[in-house]
Parts: sequence; C-alpha cells; structure tokens
Amino acid sequence: MNLILLGAPGAGKGTQSAKISEKYNIPAVSTGDMLRAAIKAGTELGASAKSYMDAGKLVPDEVVVGIIKDHLSTEACQNGFILDGFPRTIPQAEALSAMGVKIDVVLSIEVPDEKIIARMSGRRVCSCGASYHVDYIPPKVEGVCDKCGANLYIRDDDCAETVANRLKTYHAQTEPLKDFYSKQGNLITVEGQEEVADTTALVLAALAKVEA
Ligand code: AP5
Repeated sequence: MNLILLGAPGAGKGTQSAKISEKYNIPAVSTGDMLRAAIKAGTELGASAKSYMDAGKLVPDEVVVGIIKDHLSTEACQNGFILDGFPRTIPQAEALSAMGVKIDVVLSIEVPDEKIIARMSGRRVCSCGASYHVDYIPPKVEGVCDKCGANLYIRDDDCAETVANRLKTYHAQTEPLKDFYSKQGNLITVEGQEEVADTTALVLAALAKVEA
C-alpha cells in the first residue's frame, strides 16, 4: 500500500504512521524527520532548512522533492510506504505524480486548531525518534525515553509562536491538497480523537475498508 498521511502539524501523523507501519510492515517516510536529521548532521541542506522550520514556514519544494525522490527509489520503499508530511503543497503533489508514483490512499487526520495548540505544548521527543505527550502518552519516568533512556526535549518549532505560524502555513498551503486528492477519488478523512488508541482504531478500520 502506498499511503499519504495529511493533517495539521500535531494532528498525529507521526504517531499514526508508526502504528500503520507496524500493522502493514511498510516504512514510514517523514520529510520532517529527514530534515531534522540533516540539521543534526550539520549538512548544508540542514542549515538552510533550519531557518524555514524555526519560522514555521515550508522548506522550498525543490529541496523536499529531491529528498523524497531519492528515498522512494530505495529498496525499502518497493513494497509500499507511508508518506508523513509530504506532499505539503500542490507543486509537491504534482512532482510526486510526475515521478510515476501511484498513491492508493490519502488519509487526512482532522483535528481542530485549539486542540493542536494544547497537544504541541505537551509534546516531548527523543533523539532516537520516539515521541511522547506529558498528559496523553507520558514516558514511564518523567523526562526520560522509555526506549533508549536518553533525556527528552521540546522540539525547537513547538514554541507557541512557531506553532501558530505552522498552522497558518498548513491552512494556506497544505489544506488545498484535500481538494486535490478528493478530485482524484482517493481521499479519506478520520476525526482525530482525544485518545491515540481511538484514532488508531478509526485509521486502521478506514484502511481495512480500502483494502477490501
Ligand atoms: P514535520 O516534522 O512533518 O511536522 P508537522 O507536520 O508540523 O507535524 P508534527 O511532526 O509536528 O506532528 P504530527 O502530525 O506528526 O503529530 P504527532 O504524531 O507528533 O515538519 C516540520 C517542519 O519541516 C515543517 O514545519 C516544515 O518547515 C518542514 N517540512 C517537513 N516536510 C516538508 C515538506 N514536505 N515541504 C516543506 N517543508 C517541510 O503528535 C503531536 C503530539 O500530540 C505528540 O505529543 C503526540 O504524542 C500527541 N498526540 C498524537 N495523537 C494524539 C491523540 N489522538 N490524542 C492526544 N495526543 C495525541
């Protein structure tokens, strides 16, 4: 299954893509994670991406399209993949289509802006890739990753001002993709729930229907 996950920042794309990846045994491909890895590695790409990300803006299309093109051609993606955070603009969706990639389903997780703001303020992440929430998915020991024992931290772009900018960017540049994919007949939407497990149940049920 080739799947795109759409949704506002903090809607739960990363959380749900991990569940889908486990269930369908296909890799989750997150452009946000790739860009953060480039920043951590101190590459030129990372340095130029950081200023956009810290301002809550999108990294230029040609940069992310290049990263995705390289990644989707790898062996790991040949039996299906979950795109988390790509495409994020109409030109990115057109570039994906021009690569000849067939998308089976585009799943949009809908969460109102007020809930997003509350969620982002409670997110804690680990450099191993694990993600928590102080109320909804707390680690066993406060501030410490269950998986690797490292200290958890707050993402640079999770401060209130940047979250507000990311939401504006989402509504202006990414939300039109719902219409784009709806016209192609492969958009499904799921209302994000208060509990992660409840959203996962809705997501997996929606995907099972597509498969049937
Ligand atoms: P990216 O890393 O993709 O960030 P995002 O889309 O803003 O999404 P997030 O990772 O913040 O949230 P999420 O939806 O994955 O939610 P999560 O599961 O973590 O991108 C970062 C930046 O990189 C962008 O702003 C842009 O600059 C750049 N970029 C990336 N891709 C790009 C592209 N294609 N083009 C251009 N630029 C690009 O959940 C959030 C929190 O809520 C967590 O704490 C979680 O535990 C909690 N939570 C999740 N689900 C629930 C639930 N059901 N109930 C309660 N809490 C929940």
